[in-house]
Amino acid sequence: MQITRRSFVLASLATPFAFRSVSHLVRSEPWKMEKLRVAKVGCGGMGLSDLNEVSSHKMVEVVALCDIDSRHLEVLRKGGKDGEGKEIKPRFPAAEAFADWREMYAKLGDRFDAVVCSTADHMHAPISMAALNMGKHVYCQKPLAQGAWENRRLAEVAGAKKSLVTQMGTQRIATKWRRYGAKLLRDGVVGRVKEIHAWTNRPAGWWPQGNPRPEGSDPVPAWLSWDLFLGVSQSRPFKDGYTPFNWRGTIDWGTGAFGDMGCHMLDVPFYELELGSPLTAWCNPVKASADQFPESESVVMTYAATPKTSKDGLTLKWYDGGQFPDFKAIGLPDGWEGGKEGEDVVKGDGGVILVGEKGIMWFPIEHAWARVFVDGKAVEMKPEDLGRSNHWHDWVDACLSGKKDACVSRFEKGGRMCESLSIGAMSALDPGKKLEYDASACTFRNSPAASAMLKRTYRDGWKVENL
Ligand SMILES: NC(=O)c1ccc[n+]([C@@H]2O[C@H](COP(=O)([O-])OP(=O)(O)OC[C@H]3O[C@@H](n4cnc5c(N)ncnc54)[C@H](O)[C@@H]3O)[C@@H](O)[C@H]2O)c1
Repeated sequence: MQITRRSFVLASLATPFAFRSVSHLVRSEPWKMEKLRVAKVGCGGMGLSDLNEVSSHKMVEVVALCDIDSRHLEVLRKGGKDGEGKEIKPRFPAAEAFADWREMYAKLGDRFDAVVCSTADHMHAPISMAALNMGKHVYCQKPLAQGAWENRRLAEVAGAKKSLVTQMGTQRIATKWRRYGAKLLRDGVVGRVKEIHAWTNRPAGWWPQGNPRPEGSDPVPAWLSWDLFLGVSQSRPFKDGYTPFNWRGTIDWGTGAFGDMGCHMLDVPFYELELGSPLTAWCNPVKASADQFPESESVVMTYAATPKTSKDGLTLKWYDGGQFPDFKAIGLPDGWEGGKEGEDVVKGDGGVILVGEKGIMWFPIEHAWARVFVDGKAVEMKPEDLGRSNHWHDWVDACLSGKKDACVSRFEKGGRMCESLSIGAMSALDPGKKLEYDASACTFRNSPAASAMLKRTYRDGWKVENL
């Protein structure tokens, strides 16, 4: 299914789901998990999908809702009209509503077990880490965090807290297509992998990138808590159009097309090839800007060898905003390049090609089976249907059972991959230069400018323990 900007906005306003009660605010046996009591941060856009999916689990009770946009809280608790004027019933009338997640944590800390975070990227780490610090399970949208350091710390702290269950929101990983691709990689069908090529058509037409910082300011709408949107990021005047959705192209708040889409494409290759931190990153941007990620870019990153990669290591080549790999030079036979997503054609909305010592593998984002090509010919394959699960319910079930390893995108894994995506995205801040990554410090050895966003300084008053 294609999610367009319009369907996203409409989905944010439409909440045609059944009334849910909140009856277990205090547990009769605190040591026994009867229901998973969830506090939801970020309720529009993907946050609404997360809320719908998590609350569709019969053992979940939504006890609190938080959003900086009061319109979402209003509709979810009291009902209203959707974007097309259709009546919406109240869904969570008993859930307490907050604009500030810190207030929610302070006031209701003993009344929820878990947090689901679906805000803009720059707030993922503070919201998730503060929850882990309080002993809460966390489901957090991708990318796990904005900066390399934040990703590293979330992975480390989640790994150290043995009783806490975490999951990063990359739901595609639970599809039969990505499971099959993972199996092919595990089976070593293309041998040891020496190159990964990954591309997306974003941001073009989805959200703005490559523009200078807008001048002046606009009045802050009554429904918006602008200072809370800014959160840990540096203060700036409000301009119409920053939020919802379009923030992802701005360096202060997002991770650009690389961080946004890389998660859905590179998760399985990263996990299966056991890639660690990159050694170098080099960005070639089109229309670079000091405020936004480039309009379009290609980024080259290098990695040390693992048992699954070529003995000389691996090179990752990323393309976005209308740039693509040279499919022919990679070894893709004629007739496979163009066409639509869901068909046996490669280019589509985006995808990944892994170049191994025995052949190449095309790994679509979803809706199509991975394919292998050897000596310029497609190999006849019989895809294996390994089923699919509900990524959100996997997390809820793991919270209830304590089997944290059942979450395939737990923070220990998601954080490791997103550290790389942060490095790739932030390499745009010092373009045209081979940046050397110092993995022990989470900074670039030869770029203070780009390092500042790998290990960012939070705004005064926003310090979070462990970050
Ligand atoms: N897994 C997926 O398929 C998928 C798809 C889209 C977006 N996402 C991710 O979901 C996140 C949200 O993206 P979106 O497109 O829905 O953005 P959005 O701006 O449309 O929605 C974010 C919601 O969070 C609220 N919010 C923002 N900052 C907040 C804060 N500090 N406290 C409380 N609420 C806050 C906003 O008001 C809004 O309701 C991003 O990290 C994005 O990468 C994931």
